[in-house]
Amino acid sequence: MADDLDMLRADIEAAMAGAEDLRALDAVRVAALGKSGQVTGLLKGLGALPPEERRARGAEVNVLKGEIERALENRRVTLEAFALDARLAAERMDVSLPPRPFAPTGPEAGSIHPISRTMEELIALFGAMGFAVAEGPDIEGDWHNFSALNIPEHHPARQDHDTFYLTPPEGGRRPVLRTHTSPVQIRTMLTQEPPIRVIVPGRTWRADHDATHSPMFHQVEGLVIGRDIHMGHLKGTLIDFLRAFFGIADLPVRFRSSYFPFTEPSMEVDIGWSRKTGELGQGGDWLEILGSGMVHPKVLANCGLDPRVWQGFAFGMGIERITMLNHGIPDLRPFYEADLRWLRHYATSPLSPFTLHDAA
Ligand code: DAH
Repeated sequence: MADDLDMLRADIEAAMAGAEDLRALDAVRVAALGKSGQVTGLLKGLGALPPEERRARGAEVNVLKGEIERALENRRVTLEAFALDARLAAERMDVSLPPRPFAPTGPEAGSIHPISRTMEELIALFGAMGFAVAEGPDIEGDWHNFSALNIPEHHPARQDHDTFYLTPPEGGRRPVLRTHTSPVQIRTMLTQEPPIRVIVPGRTWRADHDATHSPMFHQVEGLVIGRDIHMGHLKGTLIDFLRAFFGIADLPVRFRSSYFPFTEPSMEVDIGWSRKTGELGQGGDWLEILGSGMVHPKVLANCGLDPRVWQGFAFGMGIERITMLNHGIPDLRPFYEADLRWLRHYATSPLSPFTLHDAA
């Protein structure tokens, strides 16, 4: 290529490299390729050349023009990326900033009640195992709370529950305050297609009141329904959960055969502890923690599931009980007394939500 074209290209490239924003780059484009730009001038001047020179020179100027167009485009893309980076940096918001000095701390900031905290922990731990959260009403029908769970009308299990009955609607059956979270098993199977994997943390009610019983308390139910679910799944899930929740990797866990109307076989689950010191994980004694079992075929059938196709396991445990054990809380009554001294001691900061890193 002719020397003058090489020099011109070098000049334009230097101008492009020096252009630090899109506006400066556009000025370079106009100076080269605009109506009275340098390259445009050269193209216009071709007409004055003798025909034999015109072809060769014309080809060279067109090559130069193409090169400059591509270089301009590259530089434009680069400058646009710079501009975007600069904007992102300028508009950046650090959501991880610590609380502002003017935000309330201490008791005025509020705190997470230990029961709510345990529910957060249950949701996080079972969430990591693929469980969703299901809910149901506190006021239940007799069918959901008892009959659908294979607890017949005159069965002693009904008396065990110290049920609060409500005034029945005209001509209707007595509604009850749910005595356990198990009716949500029924509601879930009636409304969701299996496979199902849910936990149900919630309030439950029984007419009972002493140091370890409150008329209103909390349970968490678990339900897993699938085609090939067996007792190995039940045991693995509950062992993993108990060890993570109590933060003891080798926590002894024992499955003891038992009876519940809605499971067959049924098992109570115990963890190892010391009766003398109250310490969990060692000491050779056993402490009952929860009830569980394989969902009874009649319960599946009551929910329209064919027991020859679908199987599953269920479990239920008291949230107060596992919270008391986890934090060494000796008495259940202060949970509901709103005593600020107690809350300051046992509640957690709303600014430190539970994460799986807190588990074992
Ligand atoms: N509903 C039972 C109770 O309140 C606890 C329970 C036991 C729930 C076994 C279950 C289970 O899902 O399988 O005493």
